[in-house]
Amino acid sequence: MKTVDEIVKNMTLDEKIALISGMDAWHMEGVPSAGLKPVMVTDGPHGLRKQTGGSDNLGQSPSVPATCFPPACLMASSWDPCVTETVGQAMGEECIAEDVAVILGPGVNIKRSPLCGRNFEYYSEDPFLAGKMAAGLIKGVESKGIGTSLKHFAANSQESFRLAGNSVVDMRALREIYLRQFEIAVREGRPSTLMCSYNRVNNVYSAVNKWLLTDVLRNEWGFDGFVMTDWGAMSDKPASVKAGLDLEMPGPAEENAAEVRNALESGNLSLEDIDKCVKRLVRFLLKAQETEKKPYSVSAHHEIARNAASSSFVLLENDGILPLEKGGKYALIGAMAEHIRYQGSGSSRINPTMLDDIRSFFPGCDYAMGYDPVTGETSDELLSESIRCAEGKDAAIVVVGLPDSYEAEGFDRLSMDLPAGHVRLVNSLLEKGVKVIVLILAGAPVLLPFRKDVSAMMMCYLGGQALGGAVHDVLTGKINPSGKLPETFPLRLEDNPSWGNFAGEDRNSLYRESIFVGYRWYDWKKLPVAYEFGYGKSYTTFEYSGLSVSVNGAEFTIRNTGTKDGSEIAQLYISLPDSRIPRAVRELKGFVKTVLKAGEEKKVFIPLSRDSFTYFNVKTDCFDVEDGDYVISIGASSRDIRLEGTVHIDGNKEPYARGDINDFESLFEGKLPLIEDGGQVDKNTTLADALKTEGGRQVLGYAAGIIEKSYSGDDNLSLRFRQLSYELPLRGLWMSPVPPFSVKETVEKINKVNEEN
Ligand code: BGC
Repeated sequence: MKTVDEIVKNMTLDEKIALISGMDAWHMEGVPSAGLKPVMVTDGPHGLRKQTGGSDNLGQSPSVPATCFPPACLMASSWDPCVTETVGQAMGEECIAEDVAVILGPGVNIKRSPLCGRNFEYYSEDPFLAGKMAAGLIKGVESKGIGTSLKHFAANSQESFRLAGNSVVDMRALREIYLRQFEIAVREGRPSTLMCSYNRVNNVYSAVNKWLLTDVLRNEWGFDGFVMTDWGAMSDKPASVKAGLDLEMPGPAEENAAEVRNALESGNLSLEDIDKCVKRLVRFLLKAQETEKKPYSVSAHHEIARNAASSSFVLLENDGILPLEKGGKYALIGAMAEHIRYQGSGSSRINPTMLDDIRSFFPGCDYAMGYDPVTGETSDELLSESIRCAEGKDAAIVVVGLPDSYEAEGFDRLSMDLPAGHVRLVNSLLEKGVKVIVLILAGAPVLLPFRKDVSAMMMCYLGGQALGGAVHDVLTGKINPSGKLPETFPLRLEDNPSWGNFAGEDRNSLYRESIFVGYRWYDWKKLPVAYEFGYGKSYTTFEYSGLSVSVNGAEFTIRNTGTKDGSEIAQLYISLPDSRIPRAVRELKGFVKTVLKAGEEKKVFIPLSRDSFTYFNVKTDCFDVEDGDYVISIGASSRDIRLEGTVHIDGNKEPYARGDINDFESLFEGKLPLIEDGGQVDKNTTLADALKTEGGRQVLGYAAGIIEKSYSGDDNLSLRFRQLSYELPLRGLWMSPVPPFSVKETVEKINKVNEEN
């Protein structure tokens, strides 16, 4: 077998330029001169989406059947990296069976706002939890010899201005919040590849961000794989090669290949620059040639999906009505019990191998639709029918949630509301004195105005293809619920830290809340919340005792004080009450899930390291430890602290944080890195901005016509996809219904007309 160096030495320039772009929508080029065949890369992240016919990255065209595991929003609630690792192994096996070399995931962007349309694909508002869960998934997939692509690097926490936005984040927040989970996943999971995000970070597109892709990712974190673009994220090819971006997807990108040749000729790019990328790609290709196709067990993977879901559901309320009584009489209400929402829309959409809805697992229950499954609207008739259905029953199990048109890749939500019809349904039943058990199917937090009046409520998130069976397991008590929330459920959207700044204006999104994301904010502002980070109930109870802490970790005892076996997730938070710099009240630095039989007790240990005590010092450009007495809190949630101890850590007595945390501009030393337009239209100009110019109107007026016709409705989906299309830069317009065109020529034509006018 030839070495990477030998292969690269013998490659022609054409081969090299071809290799640094995809072969098509889903394949990396091979190296014919070395006999390396092209390999397939495909979505992700919670199952395989290998498209069979047309290719698109919004999940429209069909794909081969594959297990739809629970999306990240649900798996994160297991707080158990073994869950993601097991799912990862199964996904790796499916990749082997389908001859896929890289699965595009996991996605670890921070849930800055509950409104991000893609939150269902991400894990948490907390980087430690997100990083650990993602590392589990990566280890699982990679253990099968299949690559993962950790995405979207970085600060990609919204869908608005999808390909053209600018996330303005101060350095401390970037390092402590928005990059931290990538760092954990890279160091612990060792993914083969990373995917850069569409957006700019502080005005530099991720695809050309040398600081991000080389200085931080490779030089600091020791990443030794390759980096690919998100689909269509290439903003400047020669600059990206220099920055450390190895593969442009999709391909072939002929206009960009021409730019590379020009840059080589003019001396703006060297062959050594290209060879660095080529070597990293060849190293992966060599490894990827080795896998042999092998079938997998569809039913075994379905079981894995079911276990992953049932170990993750979060029981929010229970007055003792759950688990269901064996001989009890229950009504099942809500169209989502039949038309379950078990995954989100977009590039992660999987064609499941089987599908367990909820209704078929409760054959003995009378059923009423309650609302329209598509619009979520109800009517007096549907309500009366539901009330009749619930009459004479011990309780009604009511399924509510967000329809597809409310949250998807491509756009952000406008509010945290459930469809009004769902809320009316629950309230109508409550008014009639019905005991209601609510099941919520949604990819992100929603407002739950009835939460104090229902008998029980469970957050099922999006449960994957085995959702129905998993719900049955938990409601009947076969499995004791043990999930805890990986994010805060605020009482009002206005309480969220990004309120007023989400999703930005004129393509700039200002992360004014800095490090105070999620529970860090609610705790700092002492805001009441509906359900706090880390919260979740069980059918049993747990008692914590006997804490001893040291710099190396915390040891304590957990006892199951109830009558049912169960699992408890204990969380470790650190605080430095006397800190000389702004700090979160507490920060998650460890957690452990322990299985306990009724009455059993176990000693558990949560490790700490010096790294657990760091903050990012922007003066020294390093993580730094402040000297002080740190409080170690052990909690059943972030607001249910059961044990506390203190450790002294020797460190810097003069920690540094720039500016005033309440004055965003001061965190940047006065000058915000906002998008500066060069005056001319270029390939990164959005369609909306291009159309503001005479040249844009003349040359691309037809594009607006196509978009208006394609999304002519006034329903949520048409409105949002219409908006998305106008927000696309010209280089990304192929992602709208507008047929592909030569971007270079179009830009030249527009500018020519503009100059003449
Ligand atoms: C998404 C990625 C996805 C890619 C390929 C993009 O639009 O942002 O997450 O992997 O398409 O489908």
